Amino acid sequence: MSKIYTLNKISSKGLEGFGQCYEVQESLQDADAILVRSAKMHELELPKSVKAIARAGAGVNNIPIDACTQKGIVVFNTPGANANAVKEMVIAGLLLSSRKIIEGVNWAQTLKGNIAKEVESGKSAFTGPEILGKKLGVVGLGAIGVLVANATQALGMEVIGYDPYLSVDAAWGISRHIRHAHTLEEVLGQADYITIHAPLTSATKEMFNEEAFNKMKKGVRLLNFARDTLVDNQALVKAIEKGTIEKYVTDFPVEGLIGHPQIITIPHLGASTPESEDNCAVMAVKELKGYLEKGT
Ligand code: MLT
Repeated sequence: MSKIYTLNKISSKGLEGFGQCYEVQESLQDADAILVRSAKMHELELPKSVKAIARAGAGVNNIPIDACTQKGIVVFNTPGANANAVKEMVIAGLLLSSRKIIEGVNWAQTLKGNIAKEVESGKSAFTGPEILGKKLGVVGLGAIGVLVANATQALGMEVIGYDPYLSVDAAWGISRHIRHAHTLEEVLGQADYITIHAPLTSATKEMFNEEAFNKMKKGVRLLNFARDTLVDNQALVKAIEKGTIEKYVTDFPVEGLIGHPQIITIPHLGASTPESEDNCAVMAVKELKGYLEKGT
């Protein structure tokens, strides 16, 4: 009987996949494998019994990869399993960045007295542009980036995609009708909206820094549903002050940015749908079972 330690609550649909020969436990003792969602694992003392870790999600920055490699622990993730949930949230983020929906809703909560008259005189403060015909830069064409590129193109945006790990031809194959840039600069210099879908690595950390902001047009709306530290937050605030960034929508609450009038902070809800939680858990359990039973 293999023992699985679950950090975080894992969807029951996923756990069902273990069947009879597995024991799911809330203790790390003698665990053969660990199933984790977003809990940070860097402080966790991993016992010798652990052979594999599966992250029910895409990013693996909550797992101490180097330490796992040294100990021979295999790490799995579930790329693509939550891509649709994140894509839908990015569409919401695009509209929130453009139309003054949050500001208008907050204002509407305060209305009293002659409401119709107040609306008539006050609503012009909440006008915001349409996304139709605007240019969207999609930085990173993995599972989420491609879905976002295709969906926003269907909404009438002119999409320009960029991914340094894909040749322009390969990118064309996975997201047709979308123009692919040869360089990041091309995207930064042209886009009205930019959405970040790059993984966090030592090469991409703070890739959206002062230098990058200086290459952008004025009034760009920037969306980050990937990882907070892809953006240099100090440079971001300066870019907002200079008028380069009109709105920043982030799925990562960061001290110092919360409450800024031009920043919309979402509490990491991009993948928070029951469907995505099931998909990630089912895929993670399949990966762990495959590895524990067949070593693959
Ligand atoms: C992911 O890495 O899969 C997403 O950021 C969602 C999550 O962490 O739960």
